[in-house]
Amino acid sequence: MSLPARRRTAILISGRGSNMAALLAAASDPAFPAEIAVVLANKAGAGGLAHAAGAGIPTALVESRPFGRDRAAFEAAMEAELARHGVELIALAGFMRVLTEGFVRRWEGRMINIHPSLLPAFPGLDTHARALAAGVRLHGCTVHLVTPGVDEGPILAQAAVPVLAGDTEDSLAARVLAQEHALYPAALALLAAGRVRLEDGRVVTDSAPGPSGEVLRNPG
Ligand code: GAR
Repeated sequence: MSLPARRRTAILISGRGSNMAALLAAASDPAFPAEIAVVLANKAGAGGLAHAAGAGIPTALVESRPFGRDRAAFEAAMEAELARHGVELIALAGFMRVLTEGFVRRWEGRMINIHPSLLPAFPGLDTHARALAAGVRLHGCTVHLVTPGVDEGPILAQAAVPVLAGDTEDSLAARVLAQEHALYPAALALLAAGRVRLEDGRVVTDSAPGPSGEVLRNPG
């Protein structure tokens, strides 16, 4: 029996690429509904590039810096790479460039991002420090469809973790990151399998809440 066609997906990175690595690992299973067509970085020093190349995944480097403020020209160079690799879906994985409205609209419904907070709380940078400063008891990560506003867009999936006594920015970040690595492949699988639709600007999926359906409460 032949497997259904897998959606050709680009992962866009700017840095170490640990979420990228989690997506590559998931997509190494031929039954995963997305195949990684290319890993594209906007920084030459992005550590994830070497990891992807080592895994036999095509890589592309489109440096944003030489384009300065000309974001549209930078994005045109990216689009050329995406087209060259026949990309259908984009997963932003620590891609730290704000995209123009034009680019976002072209990929609307086909581009997702992972963010290290329970959006709409703490968009932007330094999310873990801000969560600690705010005294929230639950923190986490979000995968959302990308719309023109930064860290906005319909929420596809979230995972929550408790904030523990004595947590530092690093310990909290590590607890969240472990959840990011599980959440992002699951969310990409839903999108690639065509199991995500929008109703009144909100995501509806046919997947059950998981893994246990239990409420995460902190303190218990
Ligand atoms: C991740 O924590 C990701 O959620 C965050 O950058 C980190 C990248 O790490 N993204 C954002 O803050 C986007 N607003 P990684 O390169 O190891 O995946």
